[in-house]
Amino acid sequence: IGLIGSKEGIFNLSQVILNPGDVVLVPDPGYPVYSASGIIAGAEIYNVPLESKNGFLPDLDAIPADILQRAKLLWLNYPNNPTGAVATMDFFEKVVLFARQHRILIAHDAPYTDVCFDGYNAPSLMQIPGAREVAIEFNSLSKTYNMAGWRLGMAVGNADVIDYLFNYKSQMDSSTFAPIYSAGVAALTGDQSWLEGRNLTYKKRRDLIVKGLRQAGFTLETPKAAIYVWAALPKGEIDSVAYCARMLEETGVSTTPGTVYGPHGGGYLRISLGTATDRVEQAMQRIVKWTNGK
Ligand SMILES: Cc1ncc(COP(=O)(O)O)c(C=O)c1O
Repeated sequence: IGLIGSKEGIFNLSQVILNPGDVVLVPDPGYPVYSASGIIAGAEIYNVPLESKNGFLPDLDAIPADILQRAKLLWLNYPNNPTGAVATMDFFEKVVLFARQHRILIAHDAPYTDVCFDGYNAPSLMQIPGAREVAIEFNSLSKTYNMAGWRLGMAVGNADVIDYLFNYKSQMDSSTFAPIYSAGVAALTGDQSWLEGRNLTYKKRRDLIVKGLRQAGFTLETPKAAIYVWAALPKGEIDSVAYCARMLEETGVSTTPGTVYGPHGGGYLRISLGTATDRVEQAMQRIVKWTNGK
């Protein structure tokens, strides 16, 4: 199904699937629309921690049995916003088994599958046999084709769920302005070679940020995909909101506190690769100077 950006489908999926009393399993930290749309649908949010020790993949075995019994929907997002983590095929296989075993719909939000670095290729959950029965996967033209403002996304997977979305949308909106669809078709069917150069630009920014943050005392992995660097604050700093506010006031560099993405984001900050390379360079110089000056 075509969507007015994947965000529209993500929000509406919660409305068509979740009823009051249902539990929705939401990655923490995670893209805020998963929990916001669940709350608006009247569902109970259960935060599934994404922790560095598990490569920011959820520990599905740690979810309590009584929660699993009432859970209807599990959100996943790889390559991940905000952590930059990626999923393995083994993990995706486990997810499909988990969905079958507990009769839980999987919603995989995958807008960053084509923003990869260092030869890495992000898999689709739909590559796993049987995934299309138990899951729905979202993608978007926003990140792959730099078309965020154009509002064009899509979802594939379980046919009944796609139908529910279609019926809901048919009363909610009247589709995308046709020329935007035509632009999307041109983007998808045109020469794809430019993506490599675009990803190299992101990689250059990623490397500047990773190097700068390490010099500044942060702890972090080098992300293989997506447009974010997720870093644990320097030793002794635990309040990400206060830390980012101080950094903004004292250096003029704006970063996002990890708690914006959930309680497990405490002690982290996120930097996006969406700023021009020379500005990124300047920002990192300021952060290094600021932290070394303490
Ligand atoms: C994980 C994730 N999902 C979905 C979206 C929304 O993308 P779209 O522009 O397709 O609505 C974003 C945008 O930031 C995102 O980071």
